[in-house]
Amino acid sequence: MGINQEVFALVYLAATVLFIFGLKGLASPKTALRGNLFAMIGMFIAVVATVMNPEVRNYTWIAAGLAVGALIGTTVALKIQMTAMPQLVAALHSFVGLSAVLVALGTYFAHQDAGHLNTTLMVELAIGSFIGAITFTGSLIAFGKLQGLLGSNPVVFKGQHFLNLLMAVVMLGFGAWFVIGDSLAGFLIMTFMALILGFTLIIPIGGADMPVVVSMLNSYSGWAAAATGFTLGNNLLITTGALVGSSGAILSYIMCKAMNRGFISVILGGFGGDAAAASAVPAGKGVKSASSEDVAFMLENSSKVIIVPGYGMAVSQAQHAIKELYEVLAEKGVQVKFAIHPVAGRMPGHMNVLLAESEIPYDSVFEMDEINSEFSTCDVCFVIGANDVVNPDAKTNKASPLYGMPILDAYKSKQVFVNKRSMKVGYAGVDNALFYYPNTSLVFGDAKAVTEQLVQALRGTGH
Ligand code: TAP
Repeated sequence: MGINQEVFALVYLAATVLFIFGLKGLASPKTALRGNLFAMIGMFIAVVATVMNPEVRNYTWIAAGLAVGALIGTTVALKIQMTAMPQLVAALHSFVGLSAVLVALGTYFAHQDAGHLNTTLMVELAIGSFIGAITFTGSLIAFGKLQGLLGSNPVVFKGQHFLNLLMAVVMLGFGAWFVIGDSLAGFLIMTFMALILGFTLIIPIGGADMPVVVSMLNSYSGWAAAATGFTLGNNLLITTGALVGSSGAILSYIMCKAMNRGFISVILGGFGGDAAAASAVPAGKGVKSASSEDVAFMLENSSKVIIVPGYGMAVSQAQHAIKELYEVLAEKGVQVKFAIHPVAGRMPGHMNVLLAESEIPYDSVFEMDEINSEFSTCDVCFVIGANDVVNPDAKTNKASPLYGMPILDAYKSKQVFVNKRSMKVGYAGVDNALFYYPNTSLVFGDAKAVTEQLVQALRGTGH
């Protein structure tokens, strides 16, 4: 290794360390900004170092790729709604998968021309390509389901898992043919089968399990990148891919735990299919509704209030109004705490990010395990745009697709107000038994508008 390569190795090591600090920072909202900054610096160093490598001989294609990528990336980043982030992540994973396939194919031709093909390289090419292809189509399906282009219900049929297993075995068989027989046809058929497998593996997975799928595909895309790193002999790509692969797998595990679902049962799919039939809510049962004045009156006469934000808060961008509500209640001496469910919203940390954006103090924001015992001691629980994460059916109704998912125990509060616009269901597609509890009233309206009315009413009445 020449001196240059040693310098590159050191620079790559520095970038890897920055990525690790970046991931560590992302573990808490307090340090997330700093974490992002570390990761961005790491990526900048990595790109500059890679481009400066003497092995790079043609800058035209790289410059064109960077320009097109930067243009698309900047446009998407400026336009994207926070609520559409999960599908954006799914779409980006599909790019990683596709690039792994293309790099494998390109490397095969380049090495074949140079007469440098060997068994180790070909195994790497096969692995990179089939993981990449599965990630590509799997991510596209996840994107379609999250974007509402495809139905979110699981698509299941008899013998599905056996068929998937059979296809996986046949796919590996063609991979072996490619490696042993240096057969391009073997490579292409293996990749084609992996593309189909990505599709068939994800269609049986229903909407409620999509968060796990996205983070699982995140993990796959990491392993595809690591395999590409081996192919290209790029250590940074190997370590970065492994970091993405393992953090995605850990996140999937954490989410499965939060939903009380076995990882294998998520992967095998079929969850959330018969949602409507599985509701324990008696037909024709009515709900009580309350006006914002009623809620304001109850809030200011409370000593302790717990706010449960959910997806609806994100949709209506109510976080700044909620900060005002927090402040006006605090001025009146009411203790306000926020309760965050691990899968509230549409992506991990969704609620934390929004509450942090409106500068709600971190020490008022509590995770499910920290706050669940406090609902029975609070006067009012105000649920803003959350639904599935407070559904008591998850505890009591074995027929519910939510059964087994730990929930925020909002129903234990003396009084529960639930803000939403209608009686429509949440993400899992089931009615919510909480709405019919004697201590629950619904406050219909857009989350932001209702919260602003509450602030107004509280400011107007004063103490
Ligand atoms: P959901 O159960 O999806 O319920 C959101 C509620 O917000 C809906 O019932 C909707 O009712 C209401 N809403 C929508 N827009 C509103 C607005 N502008 N103002 C007021 N309310 C509004 O949300 P959740 O309780 O946060 O649960 C999350 C669900 O998403 C879980 O099932 C979870 O598994 C799934 N999921 C989570 C993630 C992650 S990782 N967080 C990713 C994908 C899926 P109306 O239409 O009647 O207003």
